[in-house]
Amino acid sequence: MKKICFIVAMMAEAKPLIRHFSLIHQGGRFGQAPVQAYRGVYKDKEIILVVNGQDSETGLDYIGCEAATLSTHLAITFYQPDIIINAGTAGGFASKGAEVGDIYLSHKYIVFHDRRVDIPGWNRMGQGYFRCIDSDKIALAGGFKQGICTSGSSLDMTAEDAEQMRQTGGEIKDMEAAAIAWVAQLYNVPLLCVKAITDLVGGGSTPEQFDKNIAMATSKLKDACFRIVDEDLLALK
Ligand code: ADE
Repeated sequence: MKKICFIVAMMAEAKPLIRHFSLIHQGGRFGQAPVQAYRGVYKDKEIILVVNGQDSETGLDYIGCEAATLSTHLAITFYQPDIIINAGTAGGFASKGAEVGDIYLSHKYIVFHDRRVDIPGWNRMGQGYFRCIDSDKIALAGGFKQGICTSGSSLDMTAEDAEQMRQTGGEIKDMEAAAIAWVAQLYNVPLLCVKAITDLVGGGSTPEQFDKNIAMATSKLKDACFRIVDEDLLALK
């Protein structure tokens, strides 16, 4: 049986998937780590969903690269999945054709945009250029867009971030994909990112756009992920 592991940052992104696939919470899997796992079987596939967990001080989801690195490492070592799908939300760019509610698949490679080490050779290492699976056939079959995912630790975008995105070609801005891609590449686990656009960078207040669109975007994210599993679109890669 194929084992697909979804790695998700926020419960708001995870809940529609947990409900739709009827996944069951797996208690006590990761010791002291806040990471939580859910599991189920759909058709002939084992579905694992790993979510970063919550900060006990603030009660908020652990978003960002550090939590994503921990989740991915634990998910791979505990479950040994055949493939990881990083399902989440992202900011898009109207100048690159993005619209709120679009579903993008990772494309070509995945990079960081906020690791600046201006010493010859080190910027390239900081940016990462991590592997993801070829999503051309999945995008065509599912009617999804494709874009180069670029990650950083902030919701906003500085001029320096924008310059790195110009250099790398980054098109879809999130806070986890590159961290997940780094760990997946270390362990040689194939990775696909599926990202629903909640906001357009430069299209007004990002927090306001995010709050307004999160419910719609996570519902579309769930629909896209369900289609990828239900229609066996990963077999096209
Ligand atoms: N997640 C959703 N929108 C985002 C943005 N604009 N930047 C980073 N992560 C995001």
